[in-house]
Amino acid sequence: MNKKLPARLWAAATHARSRAYAPYSKFQVGAAILADDGKVYAGGNVENAAYPNGVCAETSAISAMVLGGAKKIREIAVIAGGKKLVTPCGGCRQRIAEFADPETPVHICGPDGLKTTFTIAELLPASFDKRNLQGKRDEKPGLNPKPPRSKTAR
Ligand code: THU
Repeated sequence: MNKKLPARLWAAATHARSRAYAPYSKFQVGAAILADDGKVYAGGNVENAAYPNGVCAETSAISAMVLGGAKKIREIAVIAGGKKLVTPCGGCRQRIAEFADPETPVHICGPDGLKTTFTIAELLPASFDKRNLQGKRDEKPGLNPKPPRSKTAR
């Protein structure tokens, strides 16, 4: 997917990354959401001495969005360091999907800017979602409108 990263998403994500609390991994991550109310909601990872209690940047940003009263993610940006693409973890993909449409852009950034953009359907094909619970799974395609590109993992 080819899409531009809005400047205010970049600004909010980099600021959130600078505030992230990551004394254990030393891997600070920032995330920022452009929501359906036109506002930007940001979050950073917040780790804990009891390691499993840490939360990811994306999850923090989603909490801020929900508490702010917004309902949907229009776009989300994630920023972290290192050479490899830092895409959301599996749990965060599921949390993003809860508030997204299949084509919602997920911008993956490094300290120098945007690296690439996926749709959430690309990151989470054949997902479980609320239609499974409503028994509506067969009425519409899920967050996977296109067949997977390849059977092998990236
Ligand atoms: N982390 C995030 O916040 N988001 C991601 O997309 C990947 C990983 C955090 C979790 C943990 O605090 C640290 O990065 C190292 O895994």
